[in-house]
Amino acid sequence: MPISFTLDKNIPADLKKINPLIKSIAKKVMILTKSEDESFKIKLALEEALTNAIRHGNKFNPRLKIRVRIKLSSKKALFDICDQGQGFDYRKLPDPTAKDRLYKPSGRGVYLMRKLMDKVEFYQRGQGVRMEKCFSGQ
Ligand SMILES: Nc1ncnc2c1ncn2[C@@H]1O[C@H](COP(=O)(O)OP(=O)(O)OP(=O)(O)O)[C@@H](O)[C@H]1O
Ligand SMILES: [Mg+2]
Repeated sequence: MPISFTLDKNIPADLKKINPLIKSIAKKVMILTKSEDESFKIKLALEEALTNAIRHGNKFNPRLKIRVRIKLSSKKALFDICDQGQGFDYRKLPDPTAKDRLYKPSGRGVYLMRKLMDKVEFYQRGQGVRMEKCFSGQ
C-alpha cells in the first residue's frame, strides 16, 4: 500500500478530463486516511479549484493548460493548481452567505475551498492556488 503519492502534470482545460483525476485522488485519500469524510472534502475542494481554473481561468480553451501538483500522505494533502488565464482579484470576492446572495446558485467555490481545506492561498494574481489540509489522526 502506498504511504505517499505525488503528481505533477499539465492537463488541458477540458472539464471531461478532470473527473477521472478527481476520482483517483479521492480514492487515494480514502486509502491513506481511511476516512470517507476526508476523502469527500478533498474531492469537493479539488473539483472547485479545477473547475475555476478551467472555466474562469483558461475559459475552456483546450489549448491552454492547467498545471496540477499534488502531494498526498496519510498526514496531509497539498494541492497547487495554476491556470494560464488573467487571474482575478481574490481579495474582493463577495460573501456568498450574505443575505442578498444566499439564494444565488453560484459564487460558492472559493468559499467552499476555504471551508474544506485548512489553508487556501492564491498567487500570481489569482492564476494559481495552493491548498493544504492536514488529516486528523486515524
Ligand atoms: N482561476 C480563476 N481565474 C479567474 N477568475 C477566477 C478564478 N477562480 C475564481 N475566479 C473568479 O472568482 C469568482 C468566484 O469563484 P467561485 O468559485 O467562488 O464562484 P463561481 O465559480 O462563480 O461559482 P461556483 O463555483 O459556485 O459554481 C468567479 O466567478 C470568477 O470571477
Ligand atoms: Mg467556482
